[in-house]
Amino acid sequence: MTADAKGPILEARGVTKQFGGLTAVNDVSFSIPRRAIVSLIGPNGAGKTTFFNILTGLYKPTVGRVSFDDQNITGGRPDKIMALGVARTFQNIRLFGTMTALENVMVGQHSRMKAGLIGSILRPPHVRHEEQRVRAKAAEALEYVGLKPRLHEQLATNLSYGDQRRVEIARALASDPKLLLLDEPTAGMNPQESENLTHFMERLRDELGLSILLIEHDMKVVMGVSEYVTVLDHGEKISEGDATTVRSDPNVVEAYLGKQEAERQSAEDGAG
Ligand SMILES: Nc1ncnc2c1ncn2[C@@H]1O[C@H](COP(=O)(O)OP(=O)(O)OP(=O)(O)O)[C@@H](O)[C@H]1O
Ligand SMILES: [Mg+2]
Repeated sequence: MTADAKGPILEARGVTKQFGGLTAVNDVSFSIPRRAIVSLIGPNGAGKTTFFNILTGLYKPTVGRVSFDDQNITGGRPDKIMALGVARTFQNIRLFGTMTALENVMVGQHSRMKAGLIGSILRPPHVRHEEQRVRAKAAEALEYVGLKPRLHEQLATNLSYGDQRRVEIARALASDPKLLLLDEPTAGMNPQESENLTHFMERLRDELGLSILLIEHDMKVVMGVSEYVTVLDHGEKISEGDATTVRSDPNVVEAYLGKQEAERQSAEDGAG
């Protein structure tokens, strides 16, 4: 069967998440085609990270259904969902500061290691072999994301911001995902680093066949890399389509600028 004959890699239907009286995500349906880069945008507090947390099993949706690679994963455990092939990075970098870059990436493969805790302590030969394999794979992932070899043994806390982001992505890649979720990966990056990341995402898609869902505030990145863009505002999907369509959608302009400013701008445009 060809890849095209299959449905989307991920599909969410009617997903709602309430926190007490607050509806953070409201009846959102959304899908990610295979081998596509799609973006999720929206103002602060729109529900983007909450939506990620639902897709990765950190939160159970109040209502709705999520399927990944044709399997129902609604409310599934995060480690199980990761083992199926969903990996992510976090809005706030979550590395172990007192571990090296390499060790941080090795942790990412933990869910794939056969030896349990006891095996890791007693370290019989087959465990040492597995550890060597995991280490080699971690080094490979770090090379792939472009972390200089001399930095592999540096403590994560001593790395630059951009390099810490690389390590996080390497850790996500080391779990052999089919879908990669990136929550504001360019936050804190300079324009050159952001542009590099854009090309890197295209490489992940083209070389590894990954699908990528990107939450991003940098519109240059979003417009440059996304096949489709979905816009959330106050938990609701207010627009969807290719980058150009979404950018000129009055709903989107209003969500970002506020109604008055949007009307003022459209009146100005009308006046020529
Ligand atoms: N665990 C939680 N408990 C209660 N409320 C929450 C929780 N997580 C998120 N929220 C609320 O849900 C809403 C959506 O938050 P979310 O973090 O998903 O927004 P976001 O689109 O990622 O925003 P940003 O661009 O600032 O990262 C906010 O009002 C937030 O305060
Ligand atoms: Mg967020």
